[in-house]
Amino acid sequence: MTGELSQALQTLAPSGFLIGCREIAFGDESALLDAEMRSMASRSIVARRASGAARIVARQLLTQLALPAAAVLRNVSGAPVWPQGVIGSLAHDDQIAVAIIGKTGGFSRVGIDIEPVEPLAQDVVDVVMTASEQRNISDAIERKLLFCAKEAVYKASHPADGEFLEYHDIEVDLPGRQAFARTGGVFELRTCMSSHLVALALA
Ligand SMILES: CC(C)(COP(=O)(O)OP(=O)(O)OC[C@H]1O[C@@H](n2cnc3c(N)ncnc32)[C@H](O)[C@@H]1OP(=O)(O)O)[C@@H](O)C(=O)NCCC(=O)NCCS
Repeated sequence: MTGELSQALQTLAPSGFLIGCREIAFGDESALLDAEMRSMASRSIVARRASGAARIVARQLLTQLALPAAAVLRNVSGAPVWPQGVIGSLAHDDQIAVAIIGKTGGFSRVGIDIEPVEPLAQDVVDVVMTASEQRNISDAIERKLLFCAKEAVYKASHPADGEFLEYHDIEVDLPGRQAFARTGGVFELRTCMSSHLVALALA
């Protein structure tokens, strides 16, 4: 099931970064290390299963980068805590977990998000999209990809500056492959529409 997505993800990864995915499976919660469990103890079994799957992928990528397959804790705001010299991001929907990892160098901030290939629900369009985004993007699946991009931008931005962003605090230019945060951050976007929608935000 992940073959097509896995291939599509490889085309997104910038130089020095690795991206991987995994179908979330029963039992993936047991991949969480003790310290990781403690950092997310109050979460449901379903949430811990998805987090376990994401960390299986993350540890595979760390190993491929010749780094120790370290614990990836959640900090108080939910962001992943990477080993020294590494940046990365995790995401999951109901079925698939994804991770991106790189050695600090070219890019210093990265965020990833994954969503099912479904239209952006009409009743959240005004919450998610600014007026100019609504004028520029009319296709409902592309609107979902824009939503995915905003979540990726938040994950790239929040760990660096601690600023909470609403959806309207981020302006996405999908054709131009850029996003602009209220806080001044400018992010390169890389997106794919495969078995799932995936967005990467890089700065
Ligand atoms: C960060 C956030 C967008 C994640 O979205 P989500 O749909 O709940 O979850 P996803 O599956 O896409 O991603 C989960 C991963 O995001 C990462 N994450 C969570 N909070 C994060 C943060 N503050 N910064 C960076 N990454 C974060 C974690 O690695 C998490 O994986 P884990 O649960 O296995 O540890 C959401 O939890 C959040 O904090 N939202 C508040 C801000 C917001 O929604 N603003 C409007 C959109 S810009």
